[in-house]
Amino acid sequence: RLDVTETFHGISFPGHLHTQESLEYAVKFPFRDTDILIVSYPKSGTTWMQEIVTLIHTRGDPGLSQTVENWKRAPWLEHYYSSALLEASSATVRVITTHLPHHLLRPTLQNSKAKIIYVSRNPKDVVVSFYHFHKMANFLPKPHSFPEFLTRFLESTVPFGSWFDHIKGWTSQINSNLLHVTYEEMSLDLHGTIKRISSFLQCPLVEDEVNNCVKHSSFSNMKDSKMINYTLVPNEIMDHSKGCFMRKGKVGDWKNTFTEEENKQFESVFTSKMQNCPLEFVWE
Ligand code: PPS
Repeated sequence: RLDVTETFHGISFPGHLHTQESLEYAVKFPFRDTDILIVSYPKSGTTWMQEIVTLIHTRGDPGLSQTVENWKRAPWLEHYYSSALLEASSATVRVITTHLPHHLLRPTLQNSKAKIIYVSRNPKDVVVSFYHFHKMANFLPKPHSFPEFLTRFLESTVPFGSWFDHIKGWTSQINSNLLHVTYEEMSLDLHGTIKRISSFLQCPLVEDEVNNCVKHSSFSNMKDSKMINYTLVPNEIMDHSKGCFMRKGKVGDWKNTFTEEENKQFESVFTSKMQNCPLEFVWE
């Protein structure tokens, strides 16, 4: 059954991809100092970052990203198939993805020098994107109406847990091995952001290579790629008649969904839960 959930440390995860064993494996994972870990709350730009990191490693050549699915190039640590993939990997640099909150990975990352890229997105756009994804992904609970989904997001009872805990947990780390990148800066200045990421990864690129990375990680190119857009996933799992994974790719799309009342509800919870968090968000 697709709608089964796995509860792990009080957080629910889709049982279609997660098991108790795979989650236990993730939290004890022996990272290598050469690993690159892409961390995000769902719908924050994960796939985009997987693409960018792949392209940086191939110096802008799209060959790898056009022939290997993103979940094989940069597997989610907590998914059931990852132990086999990661243990069989002969790559000197492994690119790994995770949606887990910081407190669950803290013990195993404690003395690690693995490079971490934390991707965040303004949470109004996250909740709208997540709502649409719930409509098409049959392994997630039915979202019902947007107001109901928004309330569950703000109460932190959605799959993958609290957005608030996720962002505060990961961004409060003072760690020179962690780079924080936002969806909004990728949208505004993809070229500059790719340069920043490549220099963090100690993989400097020449201008032409950066330009190729920009070209191949654009929304329009990625939307058409079967290795990214999940159209290879059967309809029973993701119902492509109910939406597209690569949906709009815009900053500020929440304005087309939120009512004034919902915005007030959001602002009130946001202000109280984020009061000690110095992060600034770009909302449109
Ligand atoms: S997931 O399910 O957690 O892996 O989803 P994630 O990849 O984090 O987020 C999906 C949203 O990211 C948008 N996206 C992009 N936007 C702009 N440019 C590029 N290249 C790009 N790639 C992915 C995707 O469209 C989803 O956002 P929405 O707002 O739903 O369109």
